[in-house]
Amino acid sequence: MIKKIIAAELIENKEIADKVYRMTMKAPQISESFCPGQFINVYLNDKSMLLPRPLSISSVCEDTVTLIYKVVGKGTRKIAAYCPGEVVRVSTSLGNGFRLEDVFNELGGNSKVIALVGGGMGVAPLIGLARMLIKEKKVRGLSDEVVQIIAVVGFYEEPILLEALEECCHRVYFATENGTEGFKGNVIQLIEQNDIRADYYMACGPKPMLRAIAGRCENTGISIQVSLEERMGCGYGACVGCVCKTREKGTSKTKLKKVCSDGPVFFGNEVVWDD
Ligand SMILES: Cc1cc2nc3c(=O)[nH]c(=O)nc-3n(C[C@H](O)[C@H](O)[C@H](O)COP(=O)(O)OP(=O)(O)OC[C@H]3O[C@@H](n4cnc5c(N)ncnc54)[C@H](O)[C@@H]3O)c2cc1C
Ligand code: FES
Repeated sequence: MIKKIIAAELIENKEIADKVYRMTMKAPQISESFCPGQFINVYLNDKSMLLPRPLSISSVCEDTVTLIYKVVGKGTRKIAAYCPGEVVRVSTSLGNGFRLEDVFNELGGNSKVIALVGGGMGVAPLIGLARMLIKEKKVRGLSDEVVQIIAVVGFYEEPILLEALEECCHRVYFATENGTEGFKGNVIQLIEQNDIRADYYMACGPKPMLRAIAGRCENTGISIQVSLEERMGCGYGACVGCVCKTREKGTSKTKLKKVCSDGPVFFGNEVVWDD
């Protein structure tokens, strides 16, 4: 993918939960060709931090792009200090994004449930994904009776983005690990104890959660796409700093793929989870 760095004007950069920020910027170069699951690199105006920080595109609206991020270190702390009106340097969209075509081709016209599964900050890209699935349903003339989109999300302590998910999903199930709100436990326990069933899964979150849900899907023959998160360098395929092991379809051969440019979205049965 050709990488371009653009200057985007910040419209909002607001704390919406403890250390979690919503940043909206004017960036038609990104919003026009948005595919959910893609991310952008945010460059820092600080010579001591040369590497950009990759953040998923949470959603787009006309010419704006929204990111939801958590302050975890010096880079994200710096990003949180940017103010509306300032111009930030960001890359255009990176990565492949979720394959929506595959979801609808597999479901066919029968009554089906698509489950969006998220853990922690992995919930961020599910907003844009849910909205795009709704758009695609309309284009294909599929009613709510035929295709239902549900969200199953888990957090350590404080849930985020539940309202945004409720606006676009038929049902939102949520858990907190310390039990402050919602179901007490993790996403997998939430699925098991509520007997939540779906015909196609799309997931983003910590690797142990993705591994567990992909394993369940493999055992039951249900398709899943997972968005992986690795430490990244360049973010566009040049430094080989973000590889993951994958399995070649129909063979036992394995192949290293770059999460930034071959992914971050992979089919669950393509990923070798035990590395
Ligand atoms: C494709 C992709 C999409 C992402 N989307 C989002 C998003 O939408 N919202 C969000 O909050 N975060 C997202 N992240 C994670 C985000 O990039 C990191 O939190 C950020 O780069 C940390 O920078 P820092 O300088 O603040 O932290 P650092 O000082 O570099 O690190 C602080 C802590 O965060 C951990 N960390 C740093 N980078 C990553 C990473 N890539 N994956 C896992 N742990 C990391 C470190 O191990 C360390 O414990 C995404 C990462 C990738 C690869
Ligand atoms: S981060 Fe450089 S190749 Fe993926």
